[in-house]
Amino acid sequence: MLDEVLDNIKPTESEINKSKEVIERVKEYIIEGGDKLGIDVDPQVVGSVSRGTWISGDRDIDVFMLISRELNEDEFREKGLKLARYVGEKCDNFKEDFAEHPYVVAQLEDFDVDIVPCYRASDHTEVTSAVDRTPLHDKYVSKKINNRLRDNIRLLKKFIKGIRAYGSKLKVKGFSGYLTELLILHYNRLDRSGEKYGAFKKTIEEGKNWKKGDIIDLEEHGTNKDFEGPLIVLDPVDPNRNVAAALSLEKWSYFTSACQFYLRNPSKNFFYKKEIKKLDKKEIKNKLSERCSYLLGIEFQDPDLVEDTLYPQLYKSKKWIKSLLKEKGFRVLRTEAYDNKNALILIEVENNTLSDVRKHMGPPVTSNKHSKKFVKKYLSEKTFSGPYIEEDRWIVEKKRKFTNPLKLIRKKITNTEKPGIGKNLQNTNIKVLNQDKLIKKGYIKELNKFISKKA
Ligand code: CTP
Ligand code: MN
Repeated sequence: MLDEVLDNIKPTESEINKSKEVIERVKEYIIEGGDKLGIDVDPQVVGSVSRGTWISGDRDIDVFMLISRELNEDEFREKGLKLARYVGEKCDNFKEDFAEHPYVVAQLEDFDVDIVPCYRASDHTEVTSAVDRTPLHDKYVSKKINNRLRDNIRLLKKFIKGIRAYGSKLKVKGFSGYLTELLILHYNRLDRSGEKYGAFKKTIEEGKNWKKGDIIDLEEHGTNKDFEGPLIVLDPVDPNRNVAAALSLEKWSYFTSACQFYLRNPSKNFFYKKEIKKLDKKEIKNKLSERCSYLLGIEFQDPDLVEDTLYPQLYKSKKWIKSLLKEKGFRVLRTEAYDNKNALILIEVENNTLSDVRKHMGPPVTSNKHSKKFVKKYLSEKTFSGPYIEEDRWIVEKKRKFTNPLKLIRKKITNTEKPGIGKNLQNTNIKVLNQDKLIKKGYIKELNKFISKKA
């Protein structure tokens, strides 16, 4: 079975040759641009293409431009971007993107080539930003790897993709390519089976028993740093960094439980994402009405942000809205974030109205001072009932301000102050939509995903 999966994901000879052609062309453009613009630069392919761990059909090539450390930050930024643009212009198409520094994603033939300026660094003490570390990762992995391990890495990558846990982008917060490689290198050393897929199998067997906070330390660096997160993998090239820092508890859980289920029933289904069933408008309406819940959406019109900026802000906003609703007595079933041209947060609440009357807890009767104040206050105010005593506390039943979740959110979002909404989302055009409006406005794909949620 693993042979079959591997056959499917190993790049073909023609794919490899094509990628090589593209790489050669990009390298030439970089050298040419360096000469023209007077920049001392070395092009270097990094990432899974350089390490031979990419998966057939993936179209991403990472080409870094190593630039002399003699340039200061500003010069480096300016010249690096200029050079990246020069290369982009030579390709079929390109756009600028932004991680820690600006870089260019160029299209050439069928490939998306990331063209990333970085400083040359000979070890971690010379690293000034995450991208400088990448050539060091390359050197490390390339030294440790062989064709058998490449196959094991490809299998693990495909497995993690299949269970929807691959990618370190802030939208996913899953397993990065480098993390996948290090897991195989680590568990390969513990594997005594001698089988060709032993490293992959060992990873799954160990993954089944992962405990939160496990530390993997390939180079036995040791650490006294307090890392957070469910998994700590010390970077062999920089012990101060956790390679799994971006891994969320949820994606960690996807993995460890997938290992459990796979071992009970190893099937190739784990390696292939199951597409969710496409529901049409009518089916969506039916499914939603079956739930008898109340669904609402917050639409941020065309925020025009790169994914790594947008998603942390969406996640922050949805957390704030959820806690707001809970605080006001609503029961929130689930919230999700999506982006297309507009960004959208969907919120499902169990109930669309709450009673007008609300129980308000007062002080314990034993607290003389507070009890006096409380009773005095509510004797002179209009209440539904009370003040009265329940167990040892003063209670009053008063009028609820917001009985409808949509009204509550609308009110909070039209406030000029909305600290819980992501910084760049605050000034977009924000609309709160009910279920009918969501359907009418064509958020069918998002509603489909919401209803069909699967691990
Ligand atoms: N990298 C990293 N941390 C990240 C993203 C990237 O250290 N969060 C570095 C790694 O050295 C990685 C390289 O940048 O190998 C290229 O990144 P990417 O293309 O995202 O990963 P690949 O390893 O190339 O894997 P894939 O097959 O998914 O392209
Ligand atoms: Mn890559």
